[in-house]
Amino acid sequence: MTQDNIFSNTTSRASDFEFNDEVVEVFDDMIARSVPYYREQQFMIQEMARKLTIPNTNVYDLGCSTATTLINLCEDIEQPAKFIGYDNSKPMINRGIVRIREKGFEGQIELHQADLSGDLSKLPLQNASLVTMCWTMQFIRPMQRERVVRWIYDGLVDGGALVLTEKVLTRNKRMNQFFIDLYYNFKQRNGYSETEILRKREALENVLVPYTLEENIELFKRNGFDTCETFFQWYNFVGFLCVKESA
Ligand SMILES: C[S@@+](CC[C@H](N)C(=O)[O-])C[C@H]1O[C@@H](n2cnc3c(N)ncnc32)[C@H](O)[C@@H]1O
Repeated sequence: MTQDNIFSNTTSRASDFEFNDEVVEVFDDMIARSVPYYREQQFMIQEMARKLTIPNTNVYDLGCSTATTLINLCEDIEQPAKFIGYDNSKPMINRGIVRIREKGFEGQIELHQADLSGDLSKLPLQNASLVTMCWTMQFIRPMQRERVVRWIYDGLVDGGALVLTEKVLTRNKRMNQFFIDLYYNFKQRNGYSETEILRKREALENVLVPYTLEENIELFKRNGFDTCETFFQWYNFVGFLCVKESA
């Protein structure tokens, strides 16, 4: 795994963050050192998926990056018809395809380049018993989030579930800063310098738009999900489990 030192350069101003070739090269290291308890969340998602997936249905991962979640799910679950990943970054998709081939899962997992902020009416999401969306909704334009959640809800079978992880804001400004400071301690413990942390923050400023926990729950409920629970929280990092109950 190539080590992430993209933001160690102090000479130039950080531009807006993009999931480009440079980021893809270090992405697996970046996410493991930047998302608290990433491996444990993956384990929890696998564990929930074993109970939530329904035979002969599909599993989708939205913002699949290098296909980590789909590979973990495919290793664990035999019965669903297909595992499908969408991501708008071509370099991510290409890297994901290589990893899937290395694991021997071609034919079981398919990845497609697709923009979740674009027209979803032509993008298939159907007969799904599980949709995962990890650390990706925060990159979708807020105006488009309603449509994304409704599209997911409509594509799930009765009893199907959405598992979504997301950075959140608190309603209280002081608490926001408190959690952010604690998150920076976490990143420093994982080997990032103060410069790298600040430059990444600057690069993400206009790109990553978090909602509060309550705004996320309201978004899910407004778009059909009656059952919404949190299954994970570490300061401002939250995992949601939403179930489409039988009509
Ligand atoms: C933080 S990464 C997701 C990590 C991944 N889900 C995991 O758990 O390993 C966010 C991903 O969302 C993708 N993304 C961002 N905006 C998108 C959009 N509008 N449509 C599709 N994918 C998008 C990025 O290319 C990136 O791969």
